[in-house]
Amino acid sequence: MISDRADAVSATLPTFQRTRRLRNSPAIRAFVRETSLQPSDFIYPLFVVEGEEVRREISSMPGQYQLSVDRLEDEVAGLDALGIPGVLLFGIPNLKDGEASGAFDPDGIVQRAVREIKRVNPDLLVITDVCACEYTDHGHCGILVGDLVDNDLTLPLLARTAVSHAAAGADIVAPSDMMDGRVAAIRLALDASGHAMVPIMSYAAKYASAYYGPFREAAESTPRFGDRRSHQMDPANAREAMREIAIDLDEGADLIIVKPALSYLDIIRDAREAFDVPLTAYNVSGEYAMIKAAARLGWIDEWRLTLETLLSIKRAGANRIITYHAREAAVWLGSA
Ligand code: PBG
Ligand code: ZN
Repeated sequence: MISDRADAVSATLPTFQRTRRLRNSPAIRAFVRETSLQPSDFIYPLFVVEGEEVRREISSMPGQYQLSVDRLEDEVAGLDALGIPGVLLFGIPNLKDGEASGAFDPDGIVQRAVREIKRVNPDLLVITDVCACEYTDHGHCGILVGDLVDNDLTLPLLARTAVSHAAAGADIVAPSDMMDGRVAAIRLALDASGHAMVPIMSYAAKYASAYYGPFREAAESTPRFGDRRSHQMDPANAREAMREIAIDLDEGADLIIVKPALSYLDIIRDAREAFDVPLTAYNVSGEYAMIKAAARLGWIDEWRLTLETLLSIKRAGANRIITYHAREAAVWLGSA
């Protein structure tokens, strides 16, 4: 009989702790859950292009599109309904030049996109990426002198770009270039132009990563030659990230980003412990592409893997996550 067997077994049992008690039913598991994930955690990146009625899928990022300004209304209406609080805008201009003049054009692609989104939904948080690489004909993140991005010549360009975004109505500007002194330069310019209340969310610890590959197709920002290792961080360095963050905060950054997310969960954890400011992780294009590719091959359960991945980024210490999964994850969370 079963009870006889149970008696016999319990008589021979050693003393141990039953952690399984707290996993024994969905209700108990929910009750002891330490980390939660919700659509309000997400920021959704959008790629805006010139033209009309453009909704062009990015081949290395299935489900993500280059959108023309006239298609933004539909796009952001959907986000609002899903409970996603904000977008991060990238612009892809038709004309690129050596000075990235499209980046600070008051009628540039991002500036028009900001105005359109604010017209449709003033409550949606609009964050703009501030960098030159989508606007330069050489694809580098600033002004070149010879083959190198010149730090100090690039600062006024970034400051001017950030001011033009704020003037268009951006809620937050997010410099992603990794020039030294850019947060200070942007803060000074924003304050001097009547935008003292516009926060800076700096990509404080941004690594020179192969995970940006699909993004560069999406943003048409692959450098013509060379790479970004003279300004983006070496993936081997963790302590240096704390220094980068401290400097950006000292220069006036209000919020910080660690990027990429998945291979840098240790950096997210370190940053969470060392700095008491809102921390966003960027779950980048290559991380998205890997899940999409494996799902297409039928090798993983996309739904579960995506939510587990995003949860892990929050568990590491991120408050918010910039992610291309935002839409789908919000839907899945709603039906989980
Ligand atoms: C621009 C920028 C990049 C990303 C965000 N802003 C690319 C890069 O630095 O080359 C990457 C985002 C992603 O891969 O999803 N400087
Ligand atoms: Zn750049």
